[in-house]
Amino acid sequence: MTKDQSNAMWGGRFAAGPDAIMEAINASIGFDKRMAAQDIAGSRAHAAMLAAQGIITDSDAKAIGEGLLTVLSEIEGGTFEFSTALEDIHMNVEARLKDIIGEPAGRLHTGRSRNDQVATDFKLWVRDQIDAAIQGIEALMRAFLSQAEAGADWVMPGFTHLQTAQPVTWGHHMLAYVEMLGRDLSRFRDARARMNECPLGAAALAGTSFPIDRDMTAQALGFDRPAANSLDAVADRDFALEFLSASSICAMHLSRFAEELVIWSSAQFRFVVLSDRFSTGSSIMPQKKNPDAAELIRAKIGRILGAQVALFTVMKGLPLTYSKDMQEDKEQVFDAADSLMLALAAMTGMVSDMTANRPALEAAAASGFSTATDLADWLVRSLNMPFRDAHHVTGSLVALAESKGCDLPELTIEDMKSVHEHITPDVFDVLGVHNSVASRVSYGGTAPEQVRAQVARWKTVMG
Ligand code: ARG
Repeated sequence: MTKDQSNAMWGGRFAAGPDAIMEAINASIGFDKRMAAQDIAGSRAHAAMLAAQGIITDSDAKAIGEGLLTVLSEIEGGTFEFSTALEDIHMNVEARLKDIIGEPAGRLHTGRSRNDQVATDFKLWVRDQIDAAIQGIEALMRAFLSQAEAGADWVMPGFTHLQTAQPVTWGHHMLAYVEMLGRDLSRFRDARARMNECPLGAAALAGTSFPIDRDMTAQALGFDRPAANSLDAVADRDFALEFLSASSICAMHLSRFAEELVIWSSAQFRFVVLSDRFSTGSSIMPQKKNPDAAELIRAKIGRILGAQVALFTVMKGLPLTYSKDMQEDKEQVFDAADSLMLALAAMTGMVSDMTANRPALEAAAASGFSTATDLADWLVRSLNMPFRDAHHVTGSLVALAESKGCDLPELTIEDMKSVHEHITPDVFDVLGVHNSVASRVSYGGTAPEQVRAQVARWKTVMG
């Protein structure tokens, strides 16, 4: 290769251009072009600041600012030709700017490096995704809230170990997910507040001798303040890791409801009917309606958590400050963000569309001796029995019912008395599932009145 083929941006000391394999491993343009809008916003803020500080002339800044908008429209219009030889989005944009405006383009990189530039671009990109995640989570919360409101008093079995435990209300179950998603929201908001410091102006790693105004660029880009340590500013990827952590936890929550939907929509459960819009058929079995979206959401945690592990592994043990290893941050975060947004949207659609099968839910709620705890509580309250004894007596009654092939409410008063002579007929009042859920009025309990109070609280919180 001749010197002419060396890199136009940094090739001054090179006699030859890179090997094709070097170019392939080095280039990030294949994926970091997704940050074009952020890169151009950062460069425009930087150029305006350089002019305001008298570091470049106003006319150069004007040419740069307008030229960058032209580049942006070329990229958005799909006419921009990305070059692998120019490595990344930063150099692709700058090279094209030079084609368009000529010499002033070369002044843009004054007092700046690709190290603070990439940290800034990536932060802006992640910040947008945090905002999108917040919106997506809020939409899903509203879908769960509608279900909770409609079904505040519908009974269904509550499970532990996936064994029928006690009757609960549909609304209560839906609100459990609203609580989880509410914590997800606060995690994304916390991450956003913590990350919102601007790396731009840290330059390569040590700051710059040009009289830049970092407050001005920070403000122009919507940051709360400039990052206070230039070494940290270019070395930090905590914001990406926090985004991935919050995404992993959220995806884990989604996977749990996805799993419930898979179970609930099966022929054995029939707790819910998923809409045709969010189901698929089988190419061989005509009767099938498969919960594919739920299954895929259940699986997305794999790649999102995988991205988190991958980026932690990249960052672990890296000496300060920037190392090229860090270029491996973006694809992980891009993929995780795409996966999370899609999963949130699909889950929102499924939850909005799903129909609870109330008779099936109620029948299941009443089976499996689900009101045994209510019976034990009755023995404690009415006969002043210690709970441990009441538990034992109830166990005998469950065994009796099981041997007779019936459920607790179908036992006769004689059956009851054969186990404990002081039991009176009003015991039957507590054995019905509606009475059972209505009685659980403790704060945060499953009673319809508690559910309605929590729905009202969430509606106020969410505005
Ligand atoms: N493409 C690089 C990345 O994504 C940009 C920063 C390169 N900086 C450097 N000194 N080589 O990390």
